Amino acid sequence: MRDRDFSSLRGGAATLEDPRIAGRNVGGFYPLLLRWFGMLPFRRTTGGGAGARKRLTRAWYQFLSFMDRRVHLRYMNYGYAPIDGAEPVAELGPEDAPNRYFIGLYHRVASAVDLKGKQVLEVGSGRGGGASFVARYFRPKAMVGMDYADRAVAFCRRWYRVDGLRFAVGDAERIPFPDASFDVLLNVESSHCYPHMDRFLSEAFRVLRPGGFLLFADMRHAEALAGVRQAFLTAGFEVEQEQDITPNVLRALTLDNERKSGLIRREVPWIFRSMFRVFAGMEGTASYRSFASGEWVYWRFALRKPPASPEPSPRC
Ligand SMILES: C[S@@+](CC[C@H](N)C(=O)[O-])C[C@H]1O[C@@H](n2cnc3c(N)ncnc32)[C@H](O)[C@@H]1O
Repeated sequence: MRDRDFSSLRGGAATLEDPRIAGRNVGGFYPLLLRWFGMLPFRRTTGGGAGARKRLTRAWYQFLSFMDRRVHLRYMNYGYAPIDGAEPVAELGPEDAPNRYFIGLYHRVASAVDLKGKQVLEVGSGRGGGASFVARYFRPKAMVGMDYADRAVAFCRRWYRVDGLRFAVGDAERIPFPDASFDVLLNVESSHCYPHMDRFLSEAFRVLRPGGFLLFADMRHAEALAGVRQAFLTAGFEVEQEQDITPNVLRALTLDNERKSGLIRREVPWIFRSMFRVFAGMEGTASYRSFASGEWVYWRFALRKPPASPEPSPRC
């Protein structure tokens, strides 16, 4: 392995009640700024702030890539763990095993359909760990990982050498690929960043072939979930599978807490630790509590673009 084992931190909300932060007597504007950024995924976008929020989110992910020149972060999701105590993915190689929960989320989402021999696009591929896992373990014919943070895409292009896998810069709301060019579109913990979910869904529908699948997982405020489900239907998708995976996400956060905590202590300069703890959804942070209280929920969907209807037979 070329990198240190710092490949997977994800978060939401750092917390100023963390005694390690409080002990350093950091006060004033800076902790407020950290908290604001850390909670970015948990802010709901409304109206006119959409463009600014999009730029800020992009700046945040660009910043993570900048920070990560040394340590090579490869996953940025909250993870998934089966409730019955089973391994999230049965057979992981030694290089992937430390990231079992982050990979577990990809595995749960991607195994809804058979990807073998398919053309797959991931929108919001981040640091590419998930795309690399899917390309290696599910054997699609070709896979593109797309993200609008160009630093992340540059990292992926340098880092991964997997047959059939490539990376592209692009915006979920203006996907830079022709109509009907993919069989499956994968979207893992990225859509909460999009100011216009309807634009993303109409683009997803456009680039999928008839009968193709959108495999989706993300978090939402509990009150917003029904609106997201309706948006899938409005875009023309059929809901084939839907599952509340909040308990699985929470379990992954709990099981991986100690490991991530050690990584943050060892690898992140103290001044950024609170932000990373928030971003990684550590126990005791606001993001963790949001899931535990049910205020925020995490759902998985398998959505199908209806197959093309047969041409009407010509009448004489
Ligand atoms: C929480 S990270 C998840 C990354 C990856 N799916 C994973 O699980 O490791 C969210 C990703 O969505 C990307 N993203 C946010 N808005 C986007 C947009 N409009 N178009 C494409 N990617 C976007 C971010 O740059 C970031 O890499």
